[in-house]
Amino acid sequence: MKVKKAVIPAAGLGTRFLPATKAQPKEMLPLIDRPIIQYIVEEVVESGIEDILIITGRGKRAIEDHFDCSLELEYFLREKGKEEWLREVRKIAQMANIHYVRQCEPRGLGHAVLCAQSFVGDEPFAVLLGDDIVMAEKPCLAQMLELFEEVQATVVAVERVPLKEVFRYGIISGEEIRTRVFAVHDLVEKPKPEDAPSRWGVTGRYIITPRVFSALATTRPGAGGEIQLTDALKVLAKEEKVFGYAFYGKRYDAGDKLGYLKATVELAMEREDLGPAFIEYLQTLLSERI
Ligand code: UTP
Repeated sequence: MKVKKAVIPAAGLGTRFLPATKAQPKEMLPLIDRPIIQYIVEEVVESGIEDILIITGRGKRAIEDHFDCSLELEYFLREKGKEEWLREVRKIAQMANIHYVRQCEPRGLGHAVLCAQSFVGDEPFAVLLGDDIVMAEKPCLAQMLELFEEVQATVVAVERVPLKEVFRYGIISGEEIRTRVFAVHDLVEKPKPEDAPSRWGVTGRYIITPRVFSALATTRPGAGGEIQLTDALKVLAKEEKVFGYAFYGKRYDAGDKLGYLKATVELAMEREDLGPAFIEYLQTLLSERI
């Protein structure tokens, strides 16, 4: 089967970014000149998927407005002869078929994914977290889709994490069956370092079979009182094959202050229009500090 749909959960409260997220979604914080969630939608589109469901919630209207047409702005830009900006603004609204569903209260990532059930139906689907950015030559999701086409089973993106950081991740237990590919036997959500079955943490990209919905429907609240996707994947790993994939590329948790800063700086350094001047500025700044 082919993966034709992607789900982007973006209904979380973003408490790690308060007070900036008091009245605006963290997924709309800008990384230079594009909101975080636009990078994620672009990754989906570049990976060949055009049907996207964004899980939103209270206070997330700005996400819908961003991907909608903006007739007044388009009129203004046309009048002023700003054709380049006009194309840019229009492109955002035409990028993909974006649908929305609201999660009435943020009861966890697993619960957010469960809200996608009627959109997804009985097909495998991709999940990309609304605040996880991966910079890679070939989009992370496209890399995972390639593996999915071969194995026709659930694939979760994994990354080797420092032992002191394992408590932030779902950690897999399994064996590396070939370079970058793991057969997952079990998963543990946010373990203490001494309980971690490996150093491979699940990151914000998944391709999941629809059987996850029956697992989610019976998943009880776990770590943090939330319905955890990891707990449902744990059930799935007992019933069918689940693979871990160590992707090529660099990931940033842009929902975390330090991760957000790192992503901003590195993206700016890579940009043709900003990079040279920004790098020169950083070099001067650092030489003054040392
Ligand atoms: P996070 O745990 O990073 O998001 O969830 P959060 O809960 O907003 O962040 P903090 O910890 O309070 O700062 C990963 C993704 O899952 C979504 C979030 O919006 C984020 O994009 N999510 C999380 C939901 O859609 N619903 C939830 O109930 C929880």
